[in-house]
Amino acid sequence: MWRDPLRIWSVRHFREPVLWGEGRFGRAMTVSDPAGIRHVLLDRADLYEKGRVQRRVLGPMLAQGMLLTEGEAWKRARRTVAPLFAPRRLAGATARMHAIAEARVEAWLARRQGETLDIDSEMTRLTFEMLSATLFSDEIGAAAAGFERAVNRYTETAARADPLDVMGAPDWIPRLGRILGGGAARWFENSVSGLVRARRRRLVAGEAPDDLLTALLRAQDPETGAGLSDMEVSSNILTFILAGHETTARALGWTFHLLSRSPEARARVEAEADTLDIARDDWVERAPWTRAVFEESMRLFPPAPVITRSALAEDEVCGVPVYPGTTLLISPWVLHRHQNLWEEPDAFRPERFLPGERERIDRFAYLPFGGGPRICVGATFAMQEAMLILAAVARRVRLDAVSPAEPTPTQRITLRAREGIRLKLNAR
Ligand code: HEM
Repeated sequence: MWRDPLRIWSVRHFREPVLWGEGRFGRAMTVSDPAGIRHVLLDRADLYEKGRVQRRVLGPMLAQGMLLTEGEAWKRARRTVAPLFAPRRLAGATARMHAIAEARVEAWLARRQGETLDIDSEMTRLTFEMLSATLFSDEIGAAAAGFERAVNRYTETAARADPLDVMGAPDWIPRLGRILGGGAARWFENSVSGLVRARRRRLVAGEAPDDLLTALLRAQDPETGAGLSDMEVSSNILTFILAGHETTARALGWTFHLLSRSPEARARVEAEADTLDIARDDWVERAPWTRAVFEESMRLFPPAPVITRSALAEDEVCGVPVYPGTTLLISPWVLHRHQNLWEEPDAFRPERFLPGERERIDRFAYLPFGGGPRICVGATFAMQEAMLILAAVARRVRLDAVSPAEPTPTQRITLRAREGIRLKLNAR
């Protein structure tokens, strides 16, 4: 598990709807049955909370951010940020996202033709720039390189599932990753507090832009009038920076890898990109292949490969008794390649997600963004951003394979290629 949590899945996990085991600290269940998952994430979501493992892996830096909080604190944060992700607001960001993607592709064309690109790093910077431009009014943009280094260090060290966490060992036992990742954590804390101080000054001067940072600082609960504490504001800023660009960047890396091996799918995406008009309200519907390619890529390589929950009360899932404290693992990595649910589970077939076919997929058999009340708040943002990047690239350049070797998927919070994804840039 320390080396790579993906390796814990056995052949049986990809065949059975549910598997469970009893350990020293209670019961753990892997649920891959869509009806069972629906029960846990949606119908009886009140009986489950984010698991202990998730909090230990991602905390303490994100502990008070909306990815990990529960109850009133979560509701307050979700209410605060929801308006920023409303469809009208996102539509307003389309032109800016499009311009950023096109500028990056033009810069590649001007300086890097024929070169092999480190796609992971390129995508991380591009999605970071989009996040900075749209949710932080460009105020974190200058720190992009520092953030990239700190995120890499953090995911390689502190934010790794430690077997001691999964076994329920007490917090006072030192974890190797926390010690190694301490520097990254301090770097984040310093940059976020600087960001908050600067924005508070602009708020006092009455010149703060209308974005995520301002919304968090201004947040007032309509019922109680209470604002978010400083710790909640910082934790949420980091949550959005970490959850909001690394996931999309990894998904894009895998998508470009798959397209480099599938000339037919790439030709379809290129044809759509050639006629894409983002000024039209229905531009997304007019690019069904681009969307299907991205969705199929997230089926094979879900950026968030595992979702965990901990039971708060007695329950039953797929006929198996659940006790308070039972850990439930819902793994998009397993679910999306499950033999009961998909034809040719390991094949790249974007057609599954074209209109007419997509409706046949059970809502709880495909969970790149999770489901139920805790579904990813940034899902539409991510889809829009990814489609614009795919179209900008497809219109002007090709990213071609440099090696026939398949990258090895590995889990470092997100699902990434162990040796990175490198592709050669050629003009179309
Ligand atoms: C392809 C890109 C993305 C993927 C695959 C993804 C995946 C997920 C998943 C699976 C969850 C649910 C976790 C659970 O139930 O335990 C989640 C939650 C969340 N995501 Fe994303 N995400 C993506 C992009 C984004 C973006 C762009 C943002 C913000 C700009 C974002 C912010 C969040 C937040 C704040 C939550 C917590 C929501 C809540 O608990 O209410 N994500 N994401």
